Amino acid sequence: MSQDMEPSRPADLEEAILELKCEKGAVVLAHFYQESDVQDLADVVGDSLALARAAQEIDCEMIVFCGVHFMAETAAILNPGIPVVVPDMEAGCSLADGCPPEEFKSFVADYPGAKVLTYINACAGVKAMSDLICTSSNAVKMVKQFEGEKLIFAPDRHLARWVAKETGRDDLIVWPGACVVHELFSAKGLAKLMIQHPDAEVLAHPECDQAVLDQADFIASTTGIISRAVASPDRPSIIATEDGVFHSILKQAPNKRLYQAPGMDESCACNRCPYMRLNTLEKLYDCLMNEGPCVTVPAELARQALMPIERMLTLS
Ligand code: 13P
Ligand code: SF4
Repeated sequence: MSQDMEPSRPADLEEAILELKCEKGAVVLAHFYQESDVQDLADVVGDSLALARAAQEIDCEMIVFCGVHFMAETAAILNPGIPVVVPDMEAGCSLADGCPPEEFKSFVADYPGAKVLTYINACAGVKAMSDLICTSSNAVKMVKQFEGEKLIFAPDRHLARWVAKETGRDDLIVWPGACVVHELFSAKGLAKLMIQHPDAEVLAHPECDQAVLDQADFIASTTGIISRAVASPDRPSIIATEDGVFHSILKQAPNKRLYQAPGMDESCACNRCPYMRLNTLEKLYDCLMNEGPCVTVPAELARQALMPIERMLTLS
């Protein structure tokens, strides 16, 4: 955009966002991987499960979703009558984008009679083909719902491998997707960092590669990682997830020493989610002001995708 096309925004963006929220009856939901200033203006900050639950219980004129597209889509499915706007429509997810509905349909067709358990990091089209949805915080419990049944798990192969180990299910049929952020943590780099900080506890997200998880003291969703870090404020933590979680940890335990697990390429910030970080305070202001861009889901697709989401929310 050329200089003279820059939209004019108020000098005090925070204040303007708070005023717009009131004026428009909007509720802002934000994931832990958002920029700190965005998290600070949100009404609810949480992991995927907490945000889906907040979206289910919400009462407002407009939902502003500061996260990635599949999260906003889930909020739209749960709230057919309420507009869901996002700061940046390009904020996708490598897991959701790597599992297109048409290809997933033929994958499922190869396993007649199999049930489908889908990680929430998937598009509405894939959710609509699923029997149940899970997040990283309830995946083990959700897999246990299908004891004795043939089960497809999509779209994260790392979460699938971890959950298979936790449940003893070595027969999961797995869609081979991966998160571009978590897959890039370096097991070797982590081992070196652990030598430098022998007293640190290693906390990892289950989307990480097995070689990283093998070195972790504790494996959990973002909420689980944050709670664990806060529970021992005097012990340093090495964190193998996106460093957006640091903000929430440091708010609750300001003296906590935190180290991010290194990526394969130490010269890049590859462990920052490139999609989540598209959202900025400026774009949050713009989407509130313009009441768009809006995430919509066709009614029939939303109806089909709603069932497995609601089932998860009831079971968790
Ligand atoms: P959580 O459900 O743990 O917040 O994870 C969401 C996600 O996208 C992890 O990369
Ligand atoms: Fe998707 Fe990975 Fe970003 Fe999470 S961190 S939103 S799984 S790309």
